[in-house]
Amino acid sequence: MEKYDLIIQNGTLVTATEMFHGDLAVKDGKIAAIGQTLAAEAARVVDAKGKLVLPGAIDVHTHLAMPFGGTVSSDSYESGTRGAACGGVTTVFDYPVQRAGGSIMDLINEKKAVLEKEACVDYASHCCITNLNDGAILDEMATAVEEGITSFKCFLVYKKEGMMVDDGMLATLMLRAKELGAMINVHAENPDLIDLYTEQFLREGKTSAWYHYMSRPEFVEAEADKRAVHWARHLEAPLYVVHMADKEGLEACIDAKREGADVFVETCPQYLEFTCDVYKREDGRNFVCSPPMKGQESQDALWQAIKTNLIDTVATDHCPFQSTEKDWGKDDFTKIPNGCAGVENLYPYMLDAANTGKITFPQAVALCATNPAKIFGCADKGSLVVGKDADVVIYDPEKDFTVTIDKMHTLCDHTIWEGKSFHGYPVQTYLRGQLIYDDGDFVGKPGMGRFVKRVPRNNA
Ligand code: URP
Ligand code: ZN
Ligand code: ZN
Ligand code: ZN
Repeated sequence: MEKYDLIIQNGTLVTATEMFHGDLAVKDGKIAAIGQTLAAEAARVVDAKGKLVLPGAIDVHTHLAMPFGGTVSSDSYESGTRGAACGGVTTVFDYPVQRAGGSIMDLINEKKAVLEKEACVDYASHCCITNLNDGAILDEMATAVEEGITSFKCFLVYKKEGMMVDDGMLATLMLRAKELGAMINVHAENPDLIDLYTEQFLREGKTSAWYHYMSRPEFVEAEADKRAVHWARHLEAPLYVVHMADKEGLEACIDAKREGADVFVETCPQYLEFTCDVYKREDGRNFVCSPPMKGQESQDALWQAIKTNLIDTVATDHCPFQSTEKDWGKDDFTKIPNGCAGVENLYPYMLDAANTGKITFPQAVALCATNPAKIFGCADKGSLVVGKDADVVIYDPEKDFTVTIDKMHTLCDHTIWEGKSFHGYPVQTYLRGQLIYDDGDFVGKPGMGRFVKRVPRNNA
């Protein structure tokens, strides 16, 4: 019997803080040894000469098979996690949404049953709470935390969809999460301002995708970011702001961090790549997501914060819709289902930023793997450290790759990333030591993914 199941030799290992030449050995799904030259006593030896060896990414923001915008997001749990594997993501977090009057534990268990059969990578969830059910949900949150679900989401928008959380409920949930060692994630935009602008534009016959942006401009997001951050500071509760896209809100979060508040910021590749100008394009509706892409000033501020380690995570908000569904809003932006594909593009995008010198490789690893694991209590994930899960990506810094929809593993028929070229690309993904992606092909199996039971936070 060999000492190890797998050895990845001669690569450059990347952690959130350093890069070094070495070998990595795997036994029983865990990283068993890291060294300069490990003896090749393994069932399988992989030569990673000239390649980088990275921890698998953790996409902490996806919406798989999500009922939304009059339809359901196009990726199933199987196809979404298959795409994840092929982009070097080894753990995804889903956002199941509490149904009106429904139990969150029933929902979590229902989703877990589907994921057990379908997931191609490991999985966790942040449950979206939409109703307190006369306080019953506050009790259910305790059960959820005991079962390893330690974060909950509040949408400060989507009133008509029945998903919105008002200010009183947000405060109640922030305090309850704090007490339980959990955290609240917020989608921050001001719903009343959105309604005001939307009604005005529709009255004026301004219905193109550009008016999606115009009805949710920078200050509409900033107002809600600032409100949530203000409360987090005064309630002394942790807060995670999802899909940050505007400069003013970002600055409020950075100020709060500097004052010692437990405020975490996520942004997404689409906000780093595109500006609101995409909504002037003929296919602008395909880029409609909430919050919308913003102006150049906001994008520059996001990159500056990434470079100076003031943004904590980059995740995708993966929520694709088919072209025919996006077309519902050809003549009325309010009918466009909100969301875009991205899970397969996250790591290639951030690693390309590193490979082309915009950020460092350790920064890309911190943003996409190590920080998400730490922030969300995934004790066995996110780093190349002995004893952690052997979720590993081999990345070829010389492989050029251009995104086309036929090469993507999503079930969606289009992608906003069409034509985007990357210098460097993942060539292999290992999930707990098992090869699941090999040079363009998914080689794992649905059902291989496991639930990630998370550790509560110390909110004292
Ligand atoms: O447009 C988006 N982001 N759709 C998914 C739901 C959400 O707001 O995160
Ligand atoms: Zn959102
Ligand atoms: Zn989202
Ligand atoms: Zn090169």
